[in-house]
Amino acid sequence: MDWNSLAPEDCVTIAPQVAFEAGLRHHHIANTAYPINHNWTMNAYRVRRSDFEAITAAAWQAVPTLGLYVHIPFCQARCNFCEYTVINPADNARAEDGYFELLLREMDLYRRLLDTPDKTLTGFDIGGGTPALAKTQHIEAVIRAAKSMFRWQPGLEISIETTPLIAAGQPEKIAAFYQMGIRRISMGVQVTQLSLAQKLGRQYKGFANLRQAVANIRAAGFQKFNIDLMYGFAGQSVGDWQDSLRKAIELEADYITLYQMRYKGTGLQAQANEVSLATINQMKTVARQILLQAGYEANPGKNTFSRLPGDPGTSDYLTRRVVRGEPYLGLGLGAQSFTSHTLAYNRGAGPKRIEPYADVLQAGRLPLQDLYYLSRPASMAKMIAVSFYFGEVNLVHFREKYGVALEEQFAAEVRFALAEGLLAYRGNCLSLTERGGKQANGVIALFYAPAVKRHLLQRPVDVNIQLSAQIQRALRRQGEGQRVTGEG
Ligand SMILES: C[S@@+](CC[C@H](N)C(=O)[O-])C[C@H]1O[C@@H](n2cnc3c(N)ncnc32)[C@H](O)[C@@H]1O
Ligand code: SF4
Repeated sequence: MDWNSLAPEDCVTIAPQVAFEAGLRHHHIANTAYPINHNWTMNAYRVRRSDFEAITAAAWQAVPTLGLYVHIPFCQARCNFCEYTVINPADNARAEDGYFELLLREMDLYRRLLDTPDKTLTGFDIGGGTPALAKTQHIEAVIRAAKSMFRWQPGLEISIETTPLIAAGQPEKIAAFYQMGIRRISMGVQVTQLSLAQKLGRQYKGFANLRQAVANIRAAGFQKFNIDLMYGFAGQSVGDWQDSLRKAIELEADYITLYQMRYKGTGLQAQANEVSLATINQMKTVARQILLQAGYEANPGKNTFSRLPGDPGTSDYLTRRVVRGEPYLGLGLGAQSFTSHTLAYNRGAGPKRIEPYADVLQAGRLPLQDLYYLSRPASMAKMIAVSFYFGEVNLVHFREKYGVALEEQFAAEVRFALAEGLLAYRGNCLSLTERGGKQANGVIALFYAPAVKRHLLQRPVDVNIQLSAQIQRALRRQGEGQRVTGEG
């Protein structure tokens, strides 16, 4: 198997209506984070451990421009809704210095293996976890290493994440980030109700603390400031949600990013069924109304709202991934990398411990847990799923990347989405309509690789949605081990 081959489970055809409904049914997982359950859906494309270095080098060879993501797995406390790779906070002090040494070692391995000085960096996110928790000299060392490792695209802006507690309590650190060249900062607020925040295990100190955080961020010089908010929690009313949105607006964030709670693999997984798709949709609708009224912009389905004209609000790193399907190199615990032909996951995400990542790096090998070839349908599905972060697929960049028009490659799916009023043409893009924005999980699933669609079809129903007769028939056929072929 290589990236030109197709596994049998990727050779089936699944009717658009069936894939669409399966996406809606599993709206907690059918989203822009692609693929779903890679251990199962991508198993046929797994690369042998002994081939990790050779395949990685080959896959990156033809990649001239890329984004860089560096993962910092430290937080003051672990929020119980969080899906990210964060180590036990009790180990932070002992682990931090060693972790940054390992990161530099990983950078060095890639520099040699990929001949990185020949490649141009187009975006750079320092994410986590809470990277702002780390010592400033560590962040500075990583930036210095990245500068010496790649050609730097002129104007490239580095982005970093902080919590309100750090931004409010350590103004000198926020100023140091700006001075070392970081130009975008994102702060997680999530919810602004004390009792809900406490239930979520969130260290929330009230609105005055948020105000202080923002004052420090502005005083440091940041003009690109984002607030993250979350919706879809059990026990979060639509009124709570409106209140959080109004507070974020009052704080005059340049951008507000809305995250629908993804339950899978989090401490709140058992609550997934308590939140209906109808409530999620109501929350999406009110958020859009409130933010548009306040002068923020985003097309339907886009998660980041911006009040700066012509600025999408996301970091350079994310914008290039979304609009162009730009390859990215992920460094650090559990980080993911994409070359268009391969998808790789670093070690340490499962156990949320540094040791498995450290062991292989110390032996001089890439700290990969899993490496997969991406078949053409899987690579396209990855690009399209990420595109829906902006609520649209850029048709010009899709064609440039894959040498075929989206409408040709996905003829039945595009016909279905246009006929149902879910997608419409907008400039160079095929974009979600207002109607499509409310059913985005179904629209995204239309473009998944067949193996992933099949996985969605076979998963037990965990969300309270009425199934159509057609999808019930499809599920019965799947149960009998038959193919689902193109009806509807
Ligand atoms: C890597 S976190 C960094 C933010 C920072 N550590 C903080 O919490 O203030 C980025 C964002 O992901 C979102 N997030 C975390 N867990 C999530 C989940 N299970 N589903 C959806 N979004 C999630 C939150 O909005 C969070 O601010
Ligand atoms: S939401 Fe932010 S602060 Fe909370 S555990 Fe996740 S990364 Fe850490």
